[in-house]
Amino acid sequence: MEDTAIFYSSVSLLFLIFVFKLWFQPTTHRSKNLPPSPRPSLPIIGHLHLLKHPMHRTFHNLAQKYGPIFSLRFGSRLVVVVSSASAAEECFTKNDIVFANRPNLLLGKHIGYNNTTLTLAPYGDHWRNLRRITTIEVFSSKRLNMFLSIRSDETKRLLEKLSRVSSQGGFSKVELKTMFSELTFNIMMRMIAGKRYYGDDVEDEEEARRFRKIMKEAVSYGGASNPGDFLPILNWIDGGDFKNKVVSLSKRIDEFLQGLIDEHRNKQAGLESTDNMIDHLLSLQESQPEYYTDQIIKGLILVMLLAGTDTSAITLEWAMTNLVNNPEVLEKAKAELDDQVGHERLINESDVFKLQYLQSIISETLRLCPAAPVLVPHMSSDDCTVGGYDVPRDTILLVNAWAIHRDPKLWDEPDSFKPERFETEERESRKLMPFGLGRRSCPGSGLAQRVVGLALGSLIQCFEWERVGDEKVDMSEGKGTTMPKADPLELLCKARPITNSELIFV
Ligand code: HEM
Ligand SMILES: *[C@@H]1O[C@H](CO)[C@@H](O)[C@H](O)[C@H]1NC(C)=O
Ligand SMILES: *[C@@H]1O[C@H](CO)[C@@H](O)[C@H](O)[C@H]1NC(C)=O
Ligand SMILES: *[C@@H]1O[C@H](CO)[C@@H](O)[C@H](O)[C@H]1NC(C)=O
Repeated sequence: MEDTAIFYSSVSLLFLIFVFKLWFQPTTHRSKNLPPSPRPSLPIIGHLHLLKHPMHRTFHNLAQKYGPIFSLRFGSRLVVVVSSASAAEECFTKNDIVFANRPNLLLGKHIGYNNTTLTLAPYGDHWRNLRRITTIEVFSSKRLNMFLSIRSDETKRLLEKLSRVSSQGGFSKVELKTMFSELTFNIMMRMIAGKRYYGDDVEDEEEARRFRKIMKEAVSYGGASNPGDFLPILNWIDGGDFKNKVVSLSKRIDEFLQGLIDEHRNKQAGLESTDNMIDHLLSLQESQPEYYTDQIIKGLILVMLLAGTDTSAITLEWAMTNLVNNPEVLEKAKAELDDQVGHERLINESDVFKLQYLQSIISETLRLCPAAPVLVPHMSSDDCTVGGYDVPRDTILLVNAWAIHRDPKLWDEPDSFKPERFETEERESRKLMPFGLGRRSCPGSGLAQRVVGLALGSLIQCFEWERVGDEKVDMSEGKGTTMPKADPLELLCKARPITNSELIFV
């Protein structure tokens, strides 16, 4: 399948469209001391003309000139961009509740079930309930542990596929982007519904095809989020065509998800209750029907698919890119694995948490290549101050995590890939924020760490990896608010001699 920045880029698209919608609704700002802002701000479009792809780099350059807290006008809306760890901390500690809101997104109404999903819901009782419930029923260690065998099975299938490709003895070329994307989609879908939609062993090919088609279409809207495409999008909306397409897509998504739920409901009425998220949520629906409505369940599935798959796959791709560009790090990781896990058995999830160097590689990857470089837009629900500047109510807040992760005041040799820095740094320090901070931070980080850790550890344990050419792999970012690699990663791989390879790959 094609793997692009579905979720976060749709968020950014929605966000931009929302901006257009509000062009002609001027807001008045009484505050005097707004954060500094580039001049000129053009009539109607404000600073939209400054937004060049990739946005995190544009914002970073603006911050060099205007400081770590600056403001922009997107149309008539005020946007504050924060690029220092201390300002981000102020936003997500002192002002955490004020900034716990999301901008209301026009398309959230259609694709996001009337903005009722965990990601898009405004801060309030509904969001708090959803967050509390999912923390216990979806993202808790207990629930995640129940799906351990799914993650290890899908990881083994990836290893199998790679070993088939490279069974000729020498190095073989493999394209990893697609494999990582299929891995994360299959893991998520099996946790959600007990099915896989990619690769071998797909039960219902017709249904899988439908699913893949819907996801691909969602991706194509994400692709339009490039700020350079602004005006065509605007024309599109004006023609009403865009809205029609989105309504049509959202109908098909809804039908698909409703179909999944109904199927499980009917099955559940039968005998066996298999362990997956839908069955679990349906059993909660029986006891608390007013809260666990079908719409809430569908919204949750959608959010997991859109927020949880691409981000993890991208992180894996960047991690492998960094490893082959820094062979000494790869060697050290291999040595750690050989030392702590050995060659007799395959790495498992309990090992992952003990492998300190592997963990540092993941942290360092998330530092240099955060999958959501400017997090997800927040919005102030009240007036507040950040760094001494006034931030009025209804201001959009963007936190440039990418820039904070490369701040030379905070990090030694900020542009180098040096996992060793986390041997002395605190990993939990508030200057590393790939999952955001505060109450709106990513609830899926635990799941992401498990999926990425196990897959990466397995790839290092079982295969030799080399670049296709002599030059380093190009690190350019592709389009989208998620930060995909511009060119899909291709590497050479060769199976390592592992004593029990027959055992491992059965
Ligand atoms: C490496 C992988 C991932 C990264 C880098 C990542 C990053 C983020 C970031 C930066 C945010 C926004 C924080 C903010 O608003 O300031 C976020 C929100 C969110 N993420 Fe993730 N995420 C990842 C994986 C996942 C997974 C696996 C899931 C679920 C299955 C998930 C579900 C969500 C949800 C539901 C939200 C919205 C939370 C809210 O608005 O209350 N994410 N993530
Ligand atoms: C969702 O957001 C849209 C777009 O701003 C808004 O018009 C609509 O009222 C919101 N719906 C709910 C239920 O909050
Ligand atoms: C959104 O809410 C409106 C009325 O509040 C309702 O008519 C509509 O069906 C809802 N849309 C979705 C996708 O649930
Ligand atoms: C991982 O493997 C070790 C050693 O065989 C075993 O003790 C441990 O229980 C395994 N953990 C998981 C999660 O399978």
